Amino acid sequence: MTLSFSPLHPLFAAQVSPIDLRETDDPGLLEAIRQGMHQYGVLVFRNQPMTDDAQLAFAERFDGTLHAKTGSSALGTNRFGNEALADISNLDENGQLLATDDRRRHYGLANRLWHTDASFVEPHGRYSLLSARALPPVDADTEFADMRAAYDDLTAEMKHTVAPLHAQHSIAYSRQILGFEFSADEAEKLKGVVQPLVRVNSVTQRRALYLASHATSIMGWPLPEGRLLLHDLIEHATQPQYVYRHRWENEDLVIWDNLATMHRARPFQDTQYRRDLRRVTTLDLPRTAP
Ligand code: OGA
Ligand code: MN
Repeated sequence: MTLSFSPLHPLFAAQVSPIDLRETDDPGLLEAIRQGMHQYGVLVFRNQPMTDDAQLAFAERFDGTLHAKTGSSALGTNRFGNEALADISNLDENGQLLATDDRRRHYGLANRLWHTDASFVEPHGRYSLLSARALPPVDADTEFADMRAAYDDLTAEMKHTVAPLHAQHSIAYSRQILGFEFSADEAEKLKGVVQPLVRVNSVTQRRALYLASHATSIMGWPLPEGRLLLHDLIEHATQPQYVYRHRWENEDLVIWDNLATMHRARPFQDTQYRRDLRRVTTLDLPRTAP
């Protein structure tokens, strides 16, 4: 079986020809998908009727160790009892819509800020696999931005400036931007880690900006100046020409490279319509042989 990749955007993102990822364990096919990820940064697989176990198992076959130190796990256990399966829904443990003032809802709303997954822990996240289980009857899209193209278009002077820089990433910060409050204990658990501002893909050698709304400061720079640089870079990197907007269909599975893209959820009437997606994120570690 040979996979084909149909581009969804001039710069990145492709839809992959029919394949059932639940059954995919052939090393050659897995490798072809990894190569597709290196090239496109975002891959869309339609008609993937995933169960939680099938999604977790595929993520491990694809890229190894899973991320389980999510921000929300510092606040409470999730409704699946498995922190490697991130609850990207607007539902409570009984499957009911979260109320307008529910703390879990407020926490999740921060997905509407541009971000990368798991940049606030070490080892940091690599690939995210997001599976659509139930969708609202209105648009509730996800946007992706190509951080490689955004890097390529920086001026030579800006490339020189950002090359040696590192930023502090904390998931508490992206929530505090929206007025979310943390206890001292939670804030301590979520204080975050330092990340380079530019990453190089070891296969393609392409450079990419590594940005997120979790980035609070540039190491060694005065706070306002660092925040302004981060703000300007995110503004640059999310201009329309770098953005692919994914319109979800039921049973879609979308995989993105958190070291090559940023993403954000788009708003919809989330206190009115149910939206249930589940995400598994792998860690950026050398893959151990299966
Ligand atoms: C995620 C995420 C955006 C969305 O799953 O990591 O940010 O549209 N999702 O739900
Ligand atoms: Mn996310």
